[in-house]
This record gives sequence, structure tokens and C-alpha cells, in this order.
Amino acid sequence: MEATEYIWMDGALVPWNEAQVHVLSHGLHYGTGAFEGIRAYDAVDGTAVFRLTDHMKRLARSCKALDIPFEYTVEDLVEASKELLRVNKLRSGYIRPVTFFGTGSMGLNPAGATVHMVIAAWEWGTYLGDEGVANGIRVAVSSWRRIGQNAFMPNAKGTGGYMNSVLAKTAALRAGYDEALLLNADGLLAEGSGENLFVVREGTLYTPPTSAGVLDGITRNSVTQLLEEDGYTIKESALTRTDLYYADEVFLTGTAAEVTPVREIDDRPVGDGKPGPVTRRAQELFMGTVTGKLELHPEWREYI
Ligand SMILES: Cc1ncc(COP(=O)(O)O)c(C=O)c1O
Repeated sequence: MEATEYIWMDGALVPWNEAQVHVLSHGLHYGTGAFEGIRAYDAVDGTAVFRLTDHMKRLARSCKALDIPFEYTVEDLVEASKELLRVNKLRSGYIRPVTFFGTGSMGLNPAGATVHMVIAAWEWGTYLGDEGVANGIRVAVSSWRRIGQNAFMPNAKGTGGYMNSVLAKTAALRAGYDEALLLNADGLLAEGSGENLFVVREGTLYTPPTSAGVLDGITRNSVTQLLEEDGYTIKESALTRTDLYYADEVFLTGTAAEVTPVREIDDRPVGDGKPGPVTRRAQELFMGTVTGKLELHPEWREYI
């Protein structure tokens, strides 16, 4: 990760190395925080942040669900993010807002603790590798189950919940795969450690519903709209492990992963082991839209 000059912290721009928190921060001990991941692209008319407002709205929703005070407006955070990109002279990059409880309480009850809001931005290439985006990645179904609706909130982007993703991701990497797919407690497919899942069979796309324990991904939503407008049918439906093995194509979506084809699952090739036409079309539509090379959905490109 390459440092940039400034981080926005509690309303002020501070030098990267000075953006620090106390070791007794509540969020550090108990994962009491919420975050976002957003990308800015070097688009045709300048730097465009993809669906920045929608990401900040999701942060506000996560905070509401997780009972974390949200002391800014969505508009404040949108402006702060744009300003951060400008002062750091970033033409493209990744933006990471995170809010968390700070010091003042060491019991589980965070009442009395300070609340912080931080936004950092830096340059970030492909998350699952250029080779993965071009030719597909190898994934394995994880032995870890996706956190359940009855214990936590997989649909809110709470920092503490990400231990679940970290365990699945590191186990997959250690076993020689690129990414993990998590089933939920009922044995139904949920999502990747940081990506939503799409399965293609006989020309129709299927993706697990949020009730299966998946994040309401902004890329998932964008790709769904773009493909539907292109004439494809996408169904939210309960999916099983067998559906993966029977699939013609599988791909993952996420802000970091963008649209990444899956070429192998549990050592079985997906289709003929190469990214298929629907995946390619999803990549073209998505990358064309985020960069403005396609004139689709101009409202999603928020120029800085
Ligand atoms: C668990 C999980 N699922 C899915 C996604 C994809 O969501 P989005 O497309 O909004 O980045 C992410 C990334 O934020 C994630 O962390």
C-alpha cells in the first residue's frame, strides 16, 4: 500500500502518519465500527467516484443497524471524499471510510466512548490480480460458514464481522486458492470473503438473496441493472454447492474485485475453464460504465 499525503480524520485533513488512534479504542478491542470501500476511476471527463453517495448512504445504514452514532451527513462525507482525492492528487484510487468507537469506555457498553470518522484514499490496482480478471480465479468453498442473521448482521458492513471473512480468505490462500466462497448455516451459498456471487446457467443469471447472508453489494446492484438493461434475466435465488458445479459460468463482484471471473471451484473447472460470454459482457458493461467510456448511468459517476 502506497501512502498518500493526507487522511481526513474527524473533519480535518491530517498528514498520513499523524492519523492515529489510542490503543484503548473500543473499536480495536471489540470491532465496534462500520466501514465502506469505494473506487474512483480516471474516467473520460476526469476523476469519477463510482456511486459515492450510495456508498455513504450504506455507511449510514450500517451505523443505524449497528447502533453507532452517525454524526455527519451523507453530503458532508461525499464532499470530504472528493476533497481528499483532490488534495492527494489522486486521479483514481480506493477510498476507505471507517467509523468506530474510540476511548472513554472499556466495558462492552460503548456509551461514553468517543466516535470517530476517518476517510483514507490511496492507489489500488486489481484486488484479485490482473491475471485473475483476464483469465479467472480459482476458488474453494470454505469450511467457515458466513456469519448468520441470528448472531450478527451480514447485511451491514460492521468491522467486527470481517474476522469471518479474514478467516475464510486466509484459509483459502493457504490452501493454494485465490478466494473463498462461504455457505451460510443452512448450507446455502452466500458470497465470497469480500465479493458477491453470480452463477450463470443456460443464459440466466442467479445470485443469492440478501436473506442468505450477503452484503447488498453496490457492484452486484450495478451489474444486475446493466445486464438487465442489456436483455439478460437475473434471478435472486437460493443456490446450493451443486449449482456451482453445474454452472456454465461463475463470477464475483465487488468494489475491490470489480467483475472477476471464476475459472475453477473446488478443483473442478467452471464450464470449459475459461471466462464465458456473459461474464465478459458483465465486465465490459461494468468497466465501461465506471470509466464513462459507455454513456450508461451517468448518475453513478460522481466527478470530483
Ligand atoms: C462481504 C462482502 N460482500 C460483498 C461485497 C461487495 O460489495 P460492493 O460491491 O458494494 O463493494 C463486499 C465489499 O464491500 C463485501 O465485503
